[in-house]
Amino acid sequence: MRKLFVVGMGAGSVGHLTLDAVDTLRAVDVVFVLEKAGAGKDELGRLRRELLERVVPEGTVRLEVAPSPERTIDEAAYGAGIEDWRRSRAAVVEELIVERMAEGEAGAFLVWGDPCLYDGTIQILEDLQGRGLDLAFEVVPGISSVQALTARHRVTLNRIGESVTITTARQLAATAPGTITNSVVMLDGRAAFKKLAESDLDIYWGAYLGTADEVLVAGPLRECAREIEQLIERERRRKGWIMDTYLLRRP
Ligand SMILES: C[S@@+](CC[C@H](N)C(=O)[O-])C[C@H]1O[C@@H](n2cnc3c(N)ncnc32)[C@H](O)[C@@H]1O
Repeated sequence: MRKLFVVGMGAGSVGHLTLDAVDTLRAVDVVFVLEKAGAGKDELGRLRRELLERVVPEGTVRLEVAPSPERTIDEAAYGAGIEDWRRSRAAVVEELIVERMAEGEAGAFLVWGDPCLYDGTIQILEDLQGRGLDLAFEVVPGISSVQALTARHRVTLNRIGESVTITTARQLAATAPGTITNSVVMLDGRAAFKKLAESDLDIYWGAYLGTADEVLVAGPLRECAREIEQLIERERRRKGWIMDTYLLRRP
């Protein structure tokens, strides 16, 4: 039996790591990271290494980095594309577990933010169990970019009795502004909020949260949309990539 932990590493700051996560990373034999190709790869890789260096004594834990298969976006066959991508990621995870850790060892998958949000690791491990791979796993939560965003803006996600939606830029494109109460939008980077710029919504926006490059803007969307759009363009030019999250709220 192989024992695995899916560890949330926080969304950019070493300080986001919980004490449970630190204890777990110190206790395992190997830490696995699936590294995405493309812009930002080097910087995010450096952040992960810094985090491990800070919390794990040198030479006590093996680090195994594997390239995460790239997702190709074909709008015409979106569902099938996602399924193919999931299968390729599962194959990489299986190879890591079978080839790079021995029976009886414990390993941790380091996951950006918290594993509960837009991350496939838990699902992949369940699929592998379903296919008969002898493994057990636990999840250790981390600070997600959503929590990092609300903390930096000093706001709550909802007001008394209200519900919260967490969605993607892709879904936002099909959302009527009148249906939004509190919606957190992730996986954007292309200013999908522009389409709602004439609504009466407020926006709490953050990019590179938790890092030295963090940028924050908040206010009525009508007044802030253009400024944020320009910031996104500027930061994309400056760094070559952007990672942003925002809360849209009915005032
Ligand atoms: C694949 S999802 C992973 C989310 C992650 N599991 C979490 O809990 O935050 C990646 C998206 O999370 C958001 N994100 C992650 N880290 C961020 C950060 N430091 N600043 C702003 N947004 C971030 C962005 O919307 C990005 O497109």
